[in-house]
Amino acid sequence: MQIYINGAFYPKDEAKVSVFDHGYLYGDGIYETLRSYDGMVFKLIEHLARLKQSADMMEMTLLVDEDGIRRAIYDTLSRNGLKDAYIRVSVSRGPGEIGLDPELCPTPTFVIIAKQFFDYRREFYQEGVKIAVVETRRIHPETLNPAIKSTNFLNNIFAKMEAKRAGAFEGIMLNHANFIAEGTISNIFMVKDGVLTTPPLIAGILEGVTRDLVLRLAKTLGITVYEELFTEAVLGEADEVFITNTTMEIMPVKEVGGNVIGPPGKVTKMLAEAYKQEVLRCLRTR
Ligand code: PDD
Repeated sequence: MQIYINGAFYPKDEAKVSVFDHGYLYGDGIYETLRSYDGMVFKLIEHLARLKQSADMMEMTLLVDEDGIRRAIYDTLSRNGLKDAYIRVSVSRGPGEIGLDPELCPTPTFVIIAKQFFDYRREFYQEGVKIAVVETRRIHPETLNPAIKSTNFLNNIFAKMEAKRAGAFEGIMLNHANFIAEGTISNIFMVKDGVLTTPPLIAGILEGVTRDLVLRLAKTLGITVYEELFTEAVLGEADEVFITNTTMEIMPVKEVGGNVIGPPGKVTKMLAEAYKQEVLRCLRTR
C-alpha cells in the first residue's frame, strides 16, 4: 500500500506524520471520503468543492490547487492498482510549535489513503439496518459548524459508542433544539405518505454529497421533497427511512430504536436504482 503525503508516496509502514502536527495535537484538520467505481472517482468535483469550503471555513490555505488534488488522487489509485476504492483525503493544519495558533503551522499535511472498497453486507440493503437516536447531541453550529468536514470527530465518536452499545448500525443525533440532525457519518431521510423529507442545512449538519444527489434524483423522479425539521417521534412513524453517505450510498433502515419501519419501501428502492443509474451514467460519460 502506497500512501500519498505532501507530494510523495510512502509504503504504509513508512507513511508517518509529525507528533507536532496540529491535526494530531488538537484535531485541527479536515477530510473527505470518496469512492471510486471502476477507476472513476464519483462526484469528485463536489467533494473537492466541499474540501475547499471546509478549508475556507477554518481559514486554512490548501497549498495544492483543485487540479493538483485531482491528479494526486488518481495517482494514488494507480500506484495502488485500485479500481473500486475507498479514498480518504486528509488535510491537517500541519506541524508547528505547541500552541493553538494556526500561524504556528506554515505547511498543512496533505495525506491520501486509498484501499480496496468492500461493499457493506448485501442483507443490509435487502432488509435494512437498525439505527438508534442517541443522547449525544450534534454539536451546535455556533460551537463548531458541522458543515465543516473536520477531523475533530469526538462528537460523532461519542454518538457512535452509544449506537454500538444499543446494537445499532448508525447513531442519529438530535440538534440543540431537539430536531433530528444527522448520523455519525451519514445524512438521514424519511418518507411519509410518499413525501420525502430530510433535515435542512440549518438543522446543523454536513451537506452530504450523497444527500445533494438524492435530493436531485428525487426531484427528477417526481417525488415530493421537503427539507424540513422533524422530531424523533415523527421519524418513528415514518413509512420508510434511509441514511446516505459516499460509501453506503442509500442504506435502508428497518428499525429506529424500538420502532419497526419494515423492509425497504418503494421510494427507497426507486432512489437506490436511480443512484445506481447515476453511477453508470458517470462511468459512460467519463
Ligand atoms: N462521512 N454527515 C456526516 C457527519 C458525515 O461524516 C458524512 C460522511 C455525511 C455524508 O456525507 P457524504 O454523502 O458526502 O459522504 C453526513 C464520511 C463517509 C466519513 O466520515 O468517512
